[in-house]
Amino acid sequence: MSLKLSVIGCGYLGATHAACMSSLGFEVIGVDTDPDKIAMLSKGELPFYEPGLDTLLAAEIKTGRLTFTTDFSAVADADVHFICVGTPQSKDGLAADLTYVKSAVAAIAPHLKSGSLVVGKSTVPVGTAQGLRDQLAKSSPESDLAWNPEFLREGFAVEDTLTPNRLVVGVTNDRAENILKEVYKPIIDLGTPWIRADLPTSELVKVAANSFLATKISFINAMAEVCEAAGGDVTVLAKAIGYDPRIGNRFLQAGIGFGGGCLPKDIRAFMARAEELGAKQALEFLREIDAINLRARQRVIDVVRTELTDDLTKYTIAVLGAAFKPDSDDVRDSPALDIAAQLQAAGASVVVHDPKAIENARKRFPKLGFAGSVQECVKNADLILHLTEWREYRELDPNSLASLVKRKIIIDGRNALDRDKWREAGWQFHALGRTD
Ligand code: UGA
Repeated sequence: MSLKLSVIGCGYLGATHAACMSSLGFEVIGVDTDPDKIAMLSKGELPFYEPGLDTLLAAEIKTGRLTFTTDFSAVADADVHFICVGTPQSKDGLAADLTYVKSAVAAIAPHLKSGSLVVGKSTVPVGTAQGLRDQLAKSSPESDLAWNPEFLREGFAVEDTLTPNRLVVGVTNDRAENILKEVYKPIIDLGTPWIRADLPTSELVKVAANSFLATKISFINAMAEVCEAAGGDVTVLAKAIGYDPRIGNRFLQAGIGFGGGCLPKDIRAFMARAEELGAKQALEFLREIDAINLRARQRVIDVVRTELTDDLTKYTIAVLGAAFKPDSDDVRDSPALDIAAQLQAAGASVVVHDPKAIENARKRFPKLGFAGSVQECVKNADLILHLTEWREYRELDPNSLASLVKRKIIIDGRNALDRDKWREAGWQFHALGRTD
């Protein structure tokens, strides 16, 4: 008989995991404490923007295999329980807030049937899984706990879940591994590498991967700073070093840096945990990675001040992009939105456009100006800032925008626009890390 699954926490990770596991043929119950989210998901509607997940969710709801509820006792029937709740940065420091993970495990514990496997997918500080397993051993001795970190990217969530580049499982015995092999059989059959690890290594794999990615981005942004000082071009530099396969050309896009609900808080939580473990020095470099990243936001603001004047109060600035990256409506720790808010705080009149993230951006910064179209956004602007590289922005016609703005100045904060095209249309074009 096929395994039944539960998914606890139905945000980006959980909703995606639930719909994808249902598409593999499993019966899945998704549980979340937020009744509005559950009401939407139950109707097959996605509470956030994620390409392809909307249609998959609607289709899976129709099959009857996928259901959602706020009632934790509904997990009683399931054999495998995936914990997909958030682990945000805590309010009073760098560490991760584990409240949701702990309460999710506590909430399902009384309903676990004998032999069931709890599988953590949330990103947690190393040591958390063992602690939860010990706790579970007391409250539900007939169950087991494993860790199975998730590497999905927003914007590619379905693809990354159904065709991941690896599956990593942290287990303490063969039985747990075999259960997970049964769940992921269709994905393993595609030839996906399977890595069995112990619990701490599986937790570390996740934060190590995100730390490496953050380091790559800050490395190229540090090179951008040096290019600016030395009169070089970071886009050419990135291309040239990227041909070395040991370096690789991905994640070397210089600009305003990384944001989102993962990279920034994960490197900070990793530093905090290393300090607790007495390994503070090993991760000191991540402090610099964080500092380079935040400096990139400041550097854009400096370019704005150079192009206009230090006193921004008489200027209107059009900001293209609010999401932390394209194909997402997520504005958590978004560099774009942070820059927009800082410019407004400095006295500029700021109007923001984004194809999907306006609603979330408005909730976060209700006093910012927002526009429903690029044309409306740039109207009478003294300067345009391109801060999230949506395809729609790359395809803009600089000639047709020229008549709408007050001054033809654009700063490309993502190194994604065609500089020649903008210059040919008479624009002053600036980009981070390119002196020309
Ligand atoms: C990241 C990881 O890439 C996933 O593997 C991981 O599963 C996920 O975090 C997570 O921990 O849940 P995500 O936050 O969706 O995924 O976004 P990324 O695609 O990694 O981009 C992060 C940020 O880096 C964005 O703000 C993006 O604009 C920026 N970035 C990315 C650059 O500034 N330059 C680049 O070259 C690449």
